[in-house]
Amino acid sequence: MKTVLALETSCDETAVAILRGRDDHSGPELLASEVASQITAHEKYGGIVPEIASRNHLVYAPRLLDRTASAARIDFSDVDAYAATSGPGLASSLMVGASIAKGLAIGFGKPYLAINHLEGHLLSPFFSGVDGEVGIRPNVSLIVSGGHTMLVRVHALCDYQVIGRTVDDAAGEAFDKVAKMLGLAYPGGPEIEKLARDGDPNRFGLPRSMLGSENFSFSGLKTAVRYLLPKIHVIPSEGKRSRGIPVNGLSGNATGSLDFARDDVLSDLCASFQQAIIDVLVTKTIASAQKYDVDLVTVSGGVSCNEELRRQLHEACSRNGFEFKNAEPSLCTDNAAMIAFVGLLRLQAGFESQVTEEIDPNLELVR
Ligand code: KG4
Ligand code: ZN
Repeated sequence: MKTVLALETSCDETAVAILRGRDDHSGPELLASEVASQITAHEKYGGIVPEIASRNHLVYAPRLLDRTASAARIDFSDVDAYAATSGPGLASSLMVGASIAKGLAIGFGKPYLAINHLEGHLLSPFFSGVDGEVGIRPNVSLIVSGGHTMLVRVHALCDYQVIGRTVDDAAGEAFDKVAKMLGLAYPGGPEIEKLARDGDPNRFGLPRSMLGSENFSFSGLKTAVRYLLPKIHVIPSEGKRSRGIPVNGLSGNATGSLDFARDDVLSDLCASFQQAIIDVLVTKTIASAQKYDVDLVTVSGGVSCNEELRRQLHEACSRNGFEFKNAEPSLCTDNAAMIAFVGLLRLQAGFESQVTEEIDPNLELVR
C-alpha cells in the first residue's frame, strides 16, 4: 500500500505526518504525526507575525521530519509521495512546507501533491475509514476553524460545492476575539468552552445573525458582547486574566465596576456567547442538509473540538434523521495527518501535482 508524507505549514503550526493506506476500508494507518505549536512565540504580539511563523517553520520542520521518520521506522526513500498544504494561508509559511515537499519529491523521484488546507479539514471526518465501495459519501459538511466558516456540499472526492461562508469573522475568530476582550488566553475557543461549562447559556440574550441566509456573520455577535461588557460591569482587558485577581487595579464595587472574581457572570457570558454561535451553526447546517437532501452531515476544523457544539449538532442530526460524523479531536485543529489523508486519497485516485505549481494564499476550495 502507498505511503504519503505530508507537511502542513499554512499558519503558525508546523506539522508533519506519515500515513500508510490499507487494502480494506478501515482507514489508513497513521504511522507518525507531529505538531509543533508556535503559540507562545506570537502571544506577546497579540496575533500571528508572518515572518516569525515562517522562520519557526524552518527551524521545526527538519526536526519533525526526523522525528516522524524514526517514529514511523521508515526511510524517506520508502515514501511513495510527498504532500504539502499549498493554500490558503500565509504565503511565507506555505512556502516553507511546499518547498520542502517539492525538494523531497524531486530528490527521491516521487510524486508531489499540492493539497488544499480546506480539503484537509473537509475530509477529516472520514479519516477512520471511508465508506465501503463508495469512498467519500455525499454529505453536507460544516468547516469551522479560526480562519474559515463554511458549509460545503460534498458529492465525492474532488467534487465540492460551497453552499455558504462567513461574510466577516470566522466562528473561531469570534471565539478568539471575544476571549481577548475578556482577557483570556489565546486560542480563546478552549478557554471560553471551559468557562461556559459552569455557565447559564440563557442569561444574556445575544444575536443570532443571518439565520435566513446560507452565509454566516459573527462580527455583530462580537460587537454585542463588547457593548454588553460595561453594562454588566465586566471590564474588558487586553491582558491575560488572572482568576480572582482584580485587573487594572480595580477591585470592583468601590468603582462601580466588577472584578473578574465574579466568575458566575463570566461563565454565564461565555455560555451565552457559545450558545449563540452553536445555534447559528446547527440551524444552518440542518437547513442545508434538508435542502440538499443528503443522509450524512459532517463537521471539522478547530471549533469542532467544542464538545457542546458536537453534542448539539449530533442531537439535531438524530432528531432530523441525518447520520453524523465528526473529525477526531486530534484531527480538528491544524495537523498534517489530514493533509496526508487527502494526499493518499488523491494519489490512489491517480492525481499528481506539478512541482512548478505555486502556493496560493487565497486558494479556494472550488476553483
Ligand atoms: O482549524 P484550526 O486549528 O486553525 C485554522 O485553520 O484556523 O482552528 C483554530 C480555531 C481557533 O480559533 C480556536 O479558538 C478554535 O479553533 N477552537 C475552539 C476550540 N478549540 C479550538 N473553538 C471553540 N471551542 C473549542 N474547544
Ligand atoms: Zn485549519
